[in-house]
Amino acid sequence: MPAVHLRHAQLADILQQAASLYGDVKRGVTVSVTVDPEIELLMDPEQIRRAVGNLLNNAVEATDSGEIRVTARRAPHRVVIEVADPGRGVPDRDKEKLFLPYFSTKGRGTGLGLAIVHRIVNDHDGRISVHDNYPRGTRFEIELPA
Ligand SMILES: Nc1ncnc2c1ncn2[C@@H]1O[C@H](COP(=O)(O)OP(=O)(O)OP(=O)(O)O)[C@@H](O)[C@H]1O
Ligand SMILES: [Mg+2]
Repeated sequence: MPAVHLRHAQLADILQQAASLYGDVKRGVTVSVTVDPEIELLMDPEQIRRAVGNLLNNAVEATDSGEIRVTARRAPHRVVIEVADPGRGVPDRDKEKLFLPYFSTKGRGTGLGLAIVHRIVNDHDGRISVHDNYPRGTRFEIELPA
């Protein structure tokens, strides 16, 4: 993994860029982005874009139809980014293995996508967690220090 190069950037721009890559890749699957205005963060923008892109890649693969939602909001001392999909979901027994390198349930997956996301978030002193989405699917939450 490349070293992190921190600079101030607008989170909305980064999330829009990541979403624009995945908004049109599958028929019946859309990606929406809702971000609090003016969230400027010290981050490595390329790496955060890559992390959100990896989450979106998985979300699109897991979803047959519906809207994948990317949101970001301010919270005390941190910013919370979520990627929520209405897809097939993750069984509870898999949740703790998801971020390990080489864990994949896909025939041709490398299992590195989420390990890379985990590494990028850690390098930003942040945290990532996986949850069930309601009424269906999966929601990933990234917390970054503000
Ligand atoms: N949004 C999601 N919905 C359902 N399952 C998911 C989702 N995201 C990840 N997973 C599960 O986590 C596993 C690991 O994901 P990860 O991105 O690390 O690897 P991969 O997608 O299998 O392979 P690669 O990213 O290298 O193509 C996936 O194989 C899948 O089982
Ligand atoms: Mg993946």
